[in-house]
Amino acid sequence: MKDLLKLQDLSQKDILEILNRADQLKFEKKNGISHPLLAGKTLGMIFQKASTRTRVSFEVGMYELGGYALFLSASDLQIGRGEPVQDTARTLSRYLDGIMIRTFSQQTAEDLAAFASVPVINGLTDYAHPCQVLADLMTIREIKHSFAGRRLCFIGDGNNVANSLIVGGIKMGMKVSVACPEGYRPDAGIMEWAAENGDFTCMADVMEAAAGADVLYTDVWSSMGQEKEAQKKKEIFAGVYQLNDKVLEAAKPDAIVLHCLPAHREEEITEKVFEAHAGEIFEQAENRLHVQKAVMVKLMEEK
Ligand code: CP
Ligand code: NVA
Repeated sequence: MKDLLKLQDLSQKDILEILNRADQLKFEKKNGISHPLLAGKTLGMIFQKASTRTRVSFEVGMYELGGYALFLSASDLQIGRGEPVQDTARTLSRYLDGIMIRTFSQQTAEDLAAFASVPVINGLTDYAHPCQVLADLMTIREIKHSFAGRRLCFIGDGNNVANSLIVGGIKMGMKVSVACPEGYRPDAGIMEWAAENGDFTCMADVMEAAAGADVLYTDVWSSMGQEKEAQKKKEIFAGVYQLNDKVLEAAKPDAIVLHCLPAHREEEITEKVFEAHAGEIFEQAENRLHVQKAVMVKLMEEK
């Protein structure tokens, strides 16, 4: 495997290998054991959208692995002035050992990977957020100790995070239920794949989707790039597609709450639920660091 562009690219075995490595790297970091597995390597990080967690966790992760990361804002690159991604890919491959990209279209990330001779990692597109969901799976395993048969429920917009979560949850043997309004469902191809390969349901009813859940997950109603639709979406989602006390009551009493962040309090999640589960949510944010280090080691370490 050269790149990580979407979770469909990974088998259950690949995911477990990444999670196991991430657990080990987390343990080593907590115990002051250094692990310069990518000494002398460089990662270019192309950002066409804002980021707090992805940017900082990749940069710090590369540093902790003994390598170096360059922040490349797309608006400052020639790509922002129309240089084709194919040429950017071939140029950057001459300097770097790996490229992370956060962009709009999945096709841009796929084209970059097709033309780059070095590994390309998807740091979020409109279609997928694979690094996020690897961190989510790491967090679920850390707290719940197992995946098989557990119910993972996503409430909200059928966006990039929902798409990747469905794939990751089903691949790990979880039962996945999604509640979202008609017209805002996850990717049709992903839903079809999920229904064929596991226990998957998508419905409009939040309480039905949350019933018996071990993990409740939500994300913003409007993603980056959807600013123009935000008001309309707010009217459709408000008061219904929200993680609140009532929804938590439908889930298992020991259900955990996850949010990829950034969160909009009192929109997709109440302040009360967010703060009651902040321990889980920020562990999830921390795990981005460990899991992405594991991904970089898998893709970039000398074999
Ligand atoms: N969850 C996530 O990707 O956060 P950032 O947008 O801050 O990177
Ligand atoms: N769905 C959100 C996730 C942000 C990390 C977005 O794409 O903006």
